[in-house]
Amino acid sequence: SVTRSIPSPQGLPLLGNTLQIPSHSPDEHFRKLAAEYAEEGLFQLELLGRKVLFVYDPDMVAEMCDETRFYKGIDPPLSIVRDFGGDGLFTARHDEPVWGHAHRILMPAFSQRSMKAYFPQMLEIAQNLVGKWAISDEVNVPDDMTRLALDTISLTGFDYRFNSFQSPELHPFLQAMGRSLTEAMLRNRQLPLVTKLKKRQDTAYRSDIQVMQDLVDDVIRQRRSTGRGDTKDLLGLMLKAADPRSGERLSDENIRNQVLTFLIAGHETTSGLLSFALYNLLRNPHVLARAYAEVDRLLPGDTVPTYDTIMKLDVIPRVLEETLRLWSPIPAFAVKPFEDTELGGYPITKDHVAVVLLGQLHKHPGVWERPEEFDIDRWLPENRKGHHPAAYKPFGNGERACIGRQFALTEARLALAMVLQRFAISDPDAYRMKIKQMLTLKPEDFTIRVRERRAHE
Ligand code: HEM
Repeated sequence: SVTRSIPSPQGLPLLGNTLQIPSHSPDEHFRKLAAEYAEEGLFQLELLGRKVLFVYDPDMVAEMCDETRFYKGIDPPLSIVRDFGGDGLFTARHDEPVWGHAHRILMPAFSQRSMKAYFPQMLEIAQNLVGKWAISDEVNVPDDMTRLALDTISLTGFDYRFNSFQSPELHPFLQAMGRSLTEAMLRNRQLPLVTKLKKRQDTAYRSDIQVMQDLVDDVIRQRRSTGRGDTKDLLGLMLKAADPRSGERLSDENIRNQVLTFLIAGHETTSGLLSFALYNLLRNPHVLARAYAEVDRLLPGDTVPTYDTIMKLDVIPRVLEETLRLWSPIPAFAVKPFEDTELGGYPITKDHVAVVLLGQLHKHPGVWERPEEFDIDRWLPENRKGHHPAAYKPFGNGERACIGRQFALTEARLALAMVLQRFAISDPDAYRMKIKQMLTLKPEDFTIRVRERRAHE
C-alpha cells in the first residue's frame, strides 16, 4: 500500500510546534488546526520532542478505541497532573496493578443502586443551589455549579461537607485546584528545564498541592474519628474493602490519591456540563420550552423530586447528551499503540501519542447532520441507531472510560430539573461564549438572571 505522510504544520528545531500553542487556550488552537486539516481527519504536532497526533476522523477514532491495539498513555499533561493525582484512577499507568485493585473495589459505588442511595444527599445539595438562587437576581452559573458539584461528590463520596453555598468566595481547595490545573496546562508546553527555572511558580504549585493534600487528610481523619468506617460510600469501600480478584487492599497513600482524584474529577466536569447546558437552553428557546413543559408535567408546583421521577425525565437527559456533544468539558483524551502500527492507513510508532479531539469528533460533518445545531432529537432512540459507533465519546473509552458517568448524569438531571421547576432564566446581557480552559473547559463569567416562576404566574 502507498504510505501517506501525516499532515503537520511546520515547526521549529527542538521546540517543534510547542510555542505555537497559546498557553491559556490550547483547545482553541487545536480547533483551528483541525479546521485547516478537515479533510485529512488528523494532524501531527511535534511537542517537546514528542510526536503527538490529533485525531477527529470517526473511523480513525474507532481504531483508537480498540483496546487490543491502544491503551491510555500517561504523557503530558496527565503525567503532570500525576504530581497531585498520583496513582489514583485517573492518572494511574496502564501497567500499575493498583488501577485494577481500585477499579474493582470502587465499581459497586457507581452502580445504579448506589445512585439511588446517594439521591437524598444529591437532593439536599441541589436544594442549597435553588435556595441561593431564590434570593439572588443575577447568578454566576459556573461558580454555583462548581459549588453544587463539589459539595455533592464530597457529601456522597466521603460524608464531608464543604458548605460551599454558605460562602461568597470559592473554597480555598478550589482555588488551589484551579491554579494547579492551570499550571499543569502551562507546564505541558514548557521544556522541563524552563519549569525548573521558574522557581516562584514551582513554589506556588507545590504549596497549592499541599493545600489540596491537607484537605484530603482532613477528610480521611474525620472519617476515622467518627468510627463510621463501614459505610458503603467511596471512602468506606476504600478503607475496608479488598479487591475481589486479588484480595489486595488499598494503601493509605493510594487512598489519599483516590480521594483527591475524586474531589477533582467528580466536580470539575459536571459543573462545566451544567453551565454549558444552561447556555444551550438560553440559546434555544424552543428547547427550553420543552424542558419547562417536562418539569411542569413531572414536578408540578413544589413537588420534591424523587429518584424515580428523575429517571422518568426524557427531554432533560437529551439536553445533557446534546450539550456533551457540542461542549465536551473534557476536550480530549489520549491513547498510545502497543506496537508500531497504522492508523487510518498512516504509519505510526509506539512512541506516538494519539489524542482524540472531542470537540471536532463530535461535530464531524461526515457523520453528524447539521453538526453545529443544538438538536436534542438526535438522542431519540430511533435516531441514535444511525450514529457512527465512535463519533461520541464525552466520557472516554473502554475500561479507562469515566467511572462517574451515571453519577454525573444523575446529579445533572436533578439539578437542571430543580432549577427549571423553580426559575424563569434569562440572559439580558446576551452572553457571548468565552471558554476558560484549566485542562477542562467552562464558560467564563457566564451570569444569568433568575426569577421565581410562581411569582410571575
Ligand atoms: C475518567 C469525562 C464526571 C470520575 C473520565 C474520562 C473522561 C471523563 C473523558 C477519561 C479520561 C481519559 O481517558 O484520560 C467526564 C465527564 C463528566 C465526568 C464529561 C461529567 C459530565 C465524573 C464524575 C466522577 C468522575 C462525577 C466521579 C464521581 C472519573 C474517574 C476517571 C474518569 C475516577 C478515571 C477512570 C479510570 O481511568 O479508571 N471522565 N467525567 N468523572 N472520571 Fe469522569
